[in-house]
Amino acid sequence: MRRSAAAMAERRRIVSSSGTGIVSMRDLFVNCSVKGRGIKPRPTANATKDQWSEAMTRLTITLVSLLVLPAAALAQDAGDAAKGEKVFAQCKACHDVEKGVNKIGPTLKGVIGRTVASVPDYKYSTAMLDFAKTHPAWTDELFLTYIENPKKEVPGTKMAYAGLKKPEDRANLLAYLKTRQ
Ligand code: HEC
Repeated sequence: MRRSAAAMAERRRIVSSSGTGIVSMRDLFVNCSVKGRGIKPRPTANATKDQWSEAMTRLTITLVSLLVLPAAALAQDAGDAAKGEKVFAQCKACHDVEKGVNKIGPTLKGVIGRTVASVPDYKYSTAMLDFAKTHPAWTDELFLTYIENPKKEVPGTKMAYAGLKKPEDRANLLAYLKTRQ
């Protein structure tokens, strides 16, 4: 599709008077010339060298983020169980995940998806029993919120633990606990 000379001139006028110093991608690639094997985009007449390199930087950043970010987001969502096992070292003194036995805290074997405060032979605090009335099960979301700051989520809990501040630690720990059903 060819644009009329008048339209092009108008566009150049808008771009150069916009004062942003940024040239639109479309403007830059409008004059692509095919040379040899590759297509070599070249800046339009009104684009300065700086504008051109800035636009190329932005294009590179866009392409890289398109490729990398979704992969990173997926990995983040899934969590890394091996890394989570290391995080669990912080819980080990009080919680078992293998044998189904209680220590200072109730066993966490199969805790994800389990009814809150439901280990039969464990004596929960009143705070945790009350919390269970409004929060039926340890869903992924509830666990993640709780473990970030247990005393904030369940005021009065007898779990003496400050919480996990890093989102990746919480996600990895969740992935690990899911492997201990
Ligand atoms: C100092 C001991 C201690 C540490 C460390 C500790 N907890 Fe606890 N945890 C407890 C106690 C005690 C309870 C029971 C809380 C209550 O009844 O108020 C509990 C309860 C829980 C519950 C609720 C279980 C249920 O049956 O409803 C979860 C989930 C939990 N802890 C996860 C963790 C995780 C994950 C960690 C490590 C990041 C951790 N805790 C670290 C002592 C601890």
